[in-house]
Amino acid sequence: MALASNPPEAILLVGGKGTRLRPLTVNTPKPMVPAAGVPFLTHQLARARAAGVRHIVLATSYLAEVFEPYFGDGSAFGLHLEYVTEEEPLGTGGAIRNVATRLTSGPHDPVLVFNGDILTGLDIRALIDTHRSTGADVSLHLTRVPDPRAFGLVPTDATGRVTAFLEKPQTPEEIVTDQINAGAYVFTRSVIDTIPTGRPVSVERETFPGLLAAGAHLQGMVDSTYWLDLGTPQAFVRGSADLVLGRVPSPAVPGRRGDRLVLAGAQVARDAKITGGTVIGAGARIGSGVRIDGSAVLDGAVVEDGAQVRDTLVGARARIGARTVLDGVVVGDGALIGPDNELRDGARVWCDADIPPGAVRFSSDL
Ligand code: GDD
Ligand code: MG
Repeated sequence: MALASNPPEAILLVGGKGTRLRPLTVNTPKPMVPAAGVPFLTHQLARARAAGVRHIVLATSYLAEVFEPYFGDGSAFGLHLEYVTEEEPLGTGGAIRNVATRLTSGPHDPVLVFNGDILTGLDIRALIDTHRSTGADVSLHLTRVPDPRAFGLVPTDATGRVTAFLEKPQTPEEIVTDQINAGAYVFTRSVIDTIPTGRPVSVERETFPGLLAAGAHLQGMVDSTYWLDLGTPQAFVRGSADLVLGRVPSPAVPGRRGDRLVLAGAQVARDAKITGGTVIGAGARIGSGVRIDGSAVLDGAVVEDGAQVRDTLVGARARIGARTVLDGVVVGDGALIGPDNELRDGARVWCDADIPPGAVRFSSDL
């Protein structure tokens, strides 16, 4: 009979700058931006815990100081959390190696590694089972996307064994598959210890190709469950709405799944229409006749009478003037958008910006 093994440990990579999410990440590192009412990282922690993980090491770098005050030692989440901060960013592989001293796993034990910006319904246990049953050195969650160019391409053979790793392909010849690295791995502990210390290492550009060249066994597990990289504002808003709608499961959504999630202390006018997985943050105020669809309104923001907001993130304490139309926009924390503006299609309003009444239109009528 097999001995019961210890619960698997996990490393969360949360040191990236999140530049593509600006201005959301000006004051807040990407994993702390709220999705469905809680810092995004909470969903990843809750899902890992539901899969049996108890000890998680957070590899932090950019704005590292904000994680520990919020999550503490993790006991409130049923976890044991540790934080390791890089003085200079060490890259994904360097970050994994840098936290290895905090692991208690033995050399043959599986260690989970997660990118900190992925929303997914991945069956974490199935990935660990794949790792065990194939005897791989590293196992990778793979997903298929229509345009793989922004990701790591991971072709596999008929048995799922990885044959190459092509990070962010530059030429059409390199686009050999639509299978991409989905940002969740199981490493056999001893493999982590082979990553060089004391210098930046990219797990995607150096460690994986190096392991393949050395004949190591990298196993892919294609899983077509919900998967979204929250690297852009539009993806982030989509992910938040899908959490509220229940399209992707998370034990950390603070309320019932449905068309909207209104957090405690928010005031919403009775005739406001809030739909499509919109979350209204604590202390936010939504005026009369307002329509908000598929959006996230963060804590303390104000949306005045008759405004129309779609697929948009309204930052904390921002104010959206009466009758203003926002569609596919990100509004930074504390920004003021006067009444009768119209902003669309990826506009980014910086934190604390002040847009006068009727200053920006996408159409000629007012
Ligand atoms: N601690 C630490 N230090 N973390 C880092 C560092 C660092 O120097 N650099 C990046 N990270 C973290 C990021 O915070 C993020 O959670 C994760 O590592 C991946 O970095 P991204 O910057 O988000 O990479 P990407 O989205 O361009 O590509 C990665 O993810 C794709 C899937 O979304 C790669 O792993 C691709 O191969 C993959 O397809
Ligand atoms: Mg990313």
